[in-house]
This record gives sequence, structure tokens and C-alpha cells, in this order.
Amino acid sequence: MNVKIAPSILSADLSRLGEQVRDVIAAGAEIIHVDVMDGHFVPNLTFGPQVVSALKPIAVEQGVVLDAHLMVRNPEWMVPEFAMAGADYLTVHVEECIHLHRTVHMIKEHGMRAGVAINPATPLVALEEILIYLDLVLLLSVNPGFGGQVYIPASTRRIARLREMLDERGLTQVDIEVDGGIKPDNAAEVVLAGGSVLVVGSGIFNQHASVSENMAALRQAIR
Ligand code: DX5
Ligand code: ZN
Repeated sequence: MNVKIAPSILSADLSRLGEQVRDVIAAGAEIIHVDVMDGHFVPNLTFGPQVVSALKPIAVEQGVVLDAHLMVRNPEWMVPEFAMAGADYLTVHVEECIHLHRTVHMIKEHGMRAGVAINPATPLVALEEILIYLDLVLLLSVNPGFGGQVYIPASTRRIARLREMLDERGLTQVDIEVDGGIKPDNAAEVVLAGGSVLVVGSGIFNQHASVSENMAALRQAIR
């Protein structure tokens, strides 16, 4: 499996966001993860579609994709705006969407790939009926809201079970994006369980080593 690392700009130095994004791309990142928080679904406030549109020219020039993770109330209200901004992947939370089937189709009709995210305490069965429509499932391995939290060990079993659920349905092309607390010491465990995209924030930015050293350490861990 071709495992990808998706740096989360939540932990980047926002005073020089463009430079930081160029650095992770130079270090091999193919997906840029944008954590959208509204201060209601999660107790934190971050980026909106403006940040996606600001990064879009860099993404196009460098041939990478922008992956927006909506941790917001009523995410369906924001689908057109994120499409206009240039998001390639749009992910909404299963816990927040009463009409999840409609929202997923709305994302696709707007030309984006559709993802559904699931919090650590939500049973995986909540995804059963929607899996066949998805490009990715984002499995939270921390409670969303903040970068720099510790990986919840039970996540590994959930990744493995989700991979089984996809295999049982022949959905081998659906990515499992694992988000939260991934570092070189647990990255291999996540990949072995079936994770195919690793979202990493504090393990890439905000550390003593450089972005390229941190990316290299992660790659080495999952080789
Ligand atoms: C958590 C976010 C993550 C976060 C991961 O609410 O969805 O994308 O940036 O950061 P780390 O890698 O620091 O746990
Ligand atoms: Zn995220």
C-alpha cells in the first residue's frame, strides 16, 4: 500500500504559512490537511475557506491536494464555499450530519472527493451505510479540537476493524486517514492496522528538528 503523510497546518507557524507548506511539499508531502474548527462542534476556532483559497495556488503549482476536515456545526452550509475555495477533499463528521447521505452527495456534486470523520467514542457501525459512497474515512485517534494530543491506543483496533469493514465490501480503494497523535513511534502500528493516510501536525511542525527531518523520521518509521 502506498501510505501518504498529510501534514496538518494546525501546528504550522501561521506567520509564515506559505513557506511552511512549501517546506512540507519539498519534504515529500502530497496532501495538505486543513483543520476547520468553529468553536461549537469543538472548543477551538481555526481556519475557513479563505485559508484554503490562499493555499490553492501553491497546491496547484506543486501538484498536491488540499484536504479540509470540517469540525463544525452544520457542515453542509459550507460545502459550496469550500468547493469554490479549491478544496480537493472535504470531510464531514458522522456525529454532526443528520442527513449524511445528502451531505456526502452534495460534496461530490460540487466536484470534491468525500470523506466522513468519526470520533473516538462513536461506534464504527455508524459508518456502515455510507461507506460505499466515500473516498475516505477519517478516523480520529484523539478527541478533535487541538493539536499535540496523545494517540488513544484503542484507535489501532478501530483502524483494523474499519479496514475489515471496507474489505468485506470490496472497497479497497477507500482511504483510511488516521488523525491525531501520530509520531514516528506509533506510525508503523497505524499503517499495519490499515491506515493509508497519516495526518501529522505536532510531529512535523513545532518540534526541535526541521520539517524535512521530521518527515524523514516518519517515512523511515513506516518503511
Ligand atoms: C485534531 C486535528 C488534527 C491535528 C493533529 O483535532 O483534527 O488534524 O492537527 O495534530 P497532532 O498530529 O499534533 O495530533
Ligand atoms: Zn484533522
